[in-house]
Amino acid sequence: MKNVTCIDDLRTIARRRVPKAFFDYADSGSYGEYTLRANRSDLEAIKLRQRVLVDVSERNLATTVMGKKIAAPLILAPIGLCGMQHGDGEILSARAANEAGIPFTLSTMSVGSIEDVAEGTGKPFWFQLYVIRDREFSKSLMSRALAAKVDTLVLTVDLQVLGQRHKDIKNGLTVPPEFRIKNVIDIATKPAWLWSILKGKSKTFGNISGHVPGMEYVNSLAKWTQDQFDPALNWKDVEWIRKYWPGKLVIKGILDIDDAKNAVKMGADAIVVSNHGGRQLDGTSSSIAMLPRVVDAIGGDTDVLFDGGIRSGADIMRALALGAKACLIGRSYIYGLGAFGQAGVAKAIDILEKELSVTMALTGVNRIADIDGRVLEGGAPKKKAAAKPKAPVKAKA
Ligand SMILES: Cc1cc2nc3c(=O)[nH]c(=O)nc-3n(C[C@H](O)[C@H](O)[C@H](O)COP(=O)(O)O)c2cc1C
Repeated sequence: MKNVTCIDDLRTIARRRVPKAFFDYADSGSYGEYTLRANRSDLEAIKLRQRVLVDVSERNLATTVMGKKIAAPLILAPIGLCGMQHGDGEILSARAANEAGIPFTLSTMSVGSIEDVAEGTGKPFWFQLYVIRDREFSKSLMSRALAAKVDTLVLTVDLQVLGQRHKDIKNGLTVPPEFRIKNVIDIATKPAWLWSILKGKSKTFGNISGHVPGMEYVNSLAKWTQDQFDPALNWKDVEWIRKYWPGKLVIKGILDIDDAKNAVKMGADAIVVSNHGGRQLDGTSSSIAMLPRVVDAIGGDTDVLFDGGIRSGADIMRALALGAKACLIGRSYIYGLGAFGQAGVAKAIDILEKELSVTMALTGVNRIADIDGRVLEGGAPKKKAAAKPKAPVKAKA
């Protein structure tokens, strides 16, 4: 891995090693991918402030999220079908996160089940919940997570219906992969991937298969989601989950000030400012554009986490400067997983941490808690002064 020096290198290698249908599934955004691109371009546009002659010899990336210490302001995001990038992908990613001292989040739509990850790591992890129509099944997922010693539930609220990814349809994405001529030729050129999948514990949706009919073979993820995900999901369901779930509750997929305020009112311990990595509402704002507004709206009592477009340590710095407590990473670690399995996830984490450490040095900070708008050129964006109520115009007599 000597020549792997940045996340983009991991992406290039993953693209060679992972079958096209699964690489495209991870890499793509919904529809015209406007929001996917905005997540990156808006981050890149934020200029950092170079500072010199500050003693930065005591740099430390450790921080706290919801009162718990973590080794760096990084969390592995929930990724559906993570285990199709590499066999046992969820277990391997969770192990890499454990070794780095940061949380791993298991998706409801994972290949490895809650129990597989608990057994394969022996350490607590976070679990992401999608609420499907059958509420009893959602309840059973929460009970299974509790039994597996999951302490943090991440409730994703931005996927009541599925944003379309054109490539998934064109590639005929099925789980497990369908052996059509086109796919067989592609897979035949990826023997290391095939071997890892064949050796892997699970080859379909581990949390759901055997519990929900029709999940042994999913010939259309979009169709299944459409049938099973509940468009009627609303804030009352959040209230129900808050009552049922005794641990920490994180609400993921917030991009709006009013929604953020509601999430806090409902008792969320943290929220994730996120547009699902540009995979849902195409044409909505980038996550980074909305972050300072959400932070501003809910004040400092609830941790605000961030995701969307993080590909470097400088990006993490930008999000922290705008008020995020920590960043979730999706594709950055998924590329590492597809490229080299557990070692690739560890490499992705290492790259981001080293880049963040150097960025801290060159902006003159030693501690995560010291990062704020002062590390940005021009400081943090100015708060808009509240508009003064206008005096009523008196009607002329
Ligand atoms: C391949 C893929 C699958 C995803 N699956 C889920 C999921 O099952 N649950 C969820 O809450 N978010 C899911 N997400 C969204 C991520 O958790 C995260 O919000 C997003 O990847 C952040 O953007 P980034 O990839 O640019 O870092 C997925 C993202 C990708 C790329």
